[in-house]
Amino acid sequence: MENDNNIKAIILAAGKGTRMKSASPKVLHKIFEKPLLGWVLDSVNNMKVDVDSIVVVGHGADEVNIFLDKEYEKSVSVLQKEQLGTGHAVAQAIPLIKDYSGNVLILCGDTPLITTKTLDEFLDFHNDNSSDITLMTTIFDNPTGYGRIVRDSNNNLSEIVEQKDATEVQKQIKEVNTGIYLLNWQKVMPAFSELKNNNAQGEYYLTDIIKWSVNKNLKVSGYIAKDNKEIFGINSRQNLSCATKIMNDRKLDELMTQGVTIVDCASTFISPDTVIMQDTIIYPNTYIEGKNLIKSNCKIGPMTHIRGNCEVGDFCKIGNFVELKNAKIKNNTNVCHLSYVGDAELGSNVNIGAGTIFANYNSITKEKKKSTLKDGVSIGSNSVIVAPVELGENAFTAALSCITKDVEKDSLAITRCPQKEIKNWVKTKKEKN
Ligand code: UD1
Ligand code: MG
Repeated sequence: MENDNNIKAIILAAGKGTRMKSASPKVLHKIFEKPLLGWVLDSVNNMKVDVDSIVVVGHGADEVNIFLDKEYEKSVSVLQKEQLGTGHAVAQAIPLIKDYSGNVLILCGDTPLITTKTLDEFLDFHNDNSSDITLMTTIFDNPTGYGRIVRDSNNNLSEIVEQKDATEVQKQIKEVNTGIYLLNWQKVMPAFSELKNNNAQGEYYLTDIIKWSVNKNLKVSGYIAKDNKEIFGINSRQNLSCATKIMNDRKLDELMTQGVTIVDCASTFISPDTVIMQDTIIYPNTYIEGKNLIKSNCKIGPMTHIRGNCEVGDFCKIGNFVELKNAKIKNNTNVCHLSYVGDAELGSNVNIGAGTIFANYNSITKEKKKSTLKDGVSIGSNSVIVAPVELGENAFTAALSCITKDVEKDSLAITRCPQKEIKNWVKTKKEKN
């Protein structure tokens, strides 16, 4: 559909990422277990308009395509066989959209911090100004490496000059190209057949479409992004670590604003995809990745690892050295010490004794099985719950039990050997010696 509620996005992800020093393509490096490209696609897909995305792949194309097919099946990919520049990369998408008459958003697959809010504002700005092409820029105190924004005497955009092509005077410019553009596609598409590679890097630069549009008297606008962290691009492992910190700081700040206590921001990591509700307290050294919902008034940590697809009800305690994965836990339930709860459903008012392990995985069949504990179940310390099993309401297991069969409600299950006592055993041994 070509209307105001639909745009196309082209995401550039064919580059090598040499400085990552990695066998994996750059855009598959992860923050909170999600590839950089996934973060970009999520920001795009959450925009208030419908977006059809086209990902330009090249280096590691097979791997990137496997990821896209698995996680973003709505996205289409096109191959850029040789990496001849950002302009050449966009041109690879032309056969798919040559008759499309709406707006096209262009962005890079290695800028995971871009937010939906900024993209929405950017699109509104483009539409409100009836622009033919809008460039997102931002200001950096140290603009080294970025393309510089050259404006004319009326402060209108005239061109982008890459660092390697810039004069000493141009290098002083602090306004830079973020690599994010919106194009009135039919008006700007012809630019791609006119791009030249007579520049310092011998590449077909996408940036040259600005000068082209100015020369064609198209309406060219600049949108200045307020928060320059959003366009922070990943080129090295150092950048990756730095982006993880920025993403985490943002999330912790948002949670605290919403009424969650974070005892120690420096040692707490929470994925943006996790929702935590008011008056929950997160103690130090907690690492939460993936999509989870943690409701109100819980105590999480210290030293808790939550690995995704978990739900924790109100007033729960998930304590130290506890790992949760794919666990649905209802209200007032406690998993306080040294336990692993994976592929499990726990009712309300359940108590899991210290050192309990849910044995959910068979390493020969590679199958994962689920365990269900109904309301009020109590598991004795140091137990193993071997899936698949179901424990009925208020069932009780004795410490050190290995539960391999279902337990009926209100019953006790005990699998340990009875304690025996050998009178004077120590004394006899000593006397013999
Ligand atoms: C580019 C911009 C620069 C801007 C900066 C913002 C150009 C010429 N320069 O520079 O003005 O300030 O981004 O981060 O556009 N890619 C391909 N195919 C290619 C080349 C690149 O898909 O042939 C992809 C890369 O994977 C990457 C993106 O395009 O995701 C940007 O390429 P990169 O080489 O990082 O460009 P920069 O030098 O950073
Ligand atoms: Mg770059």
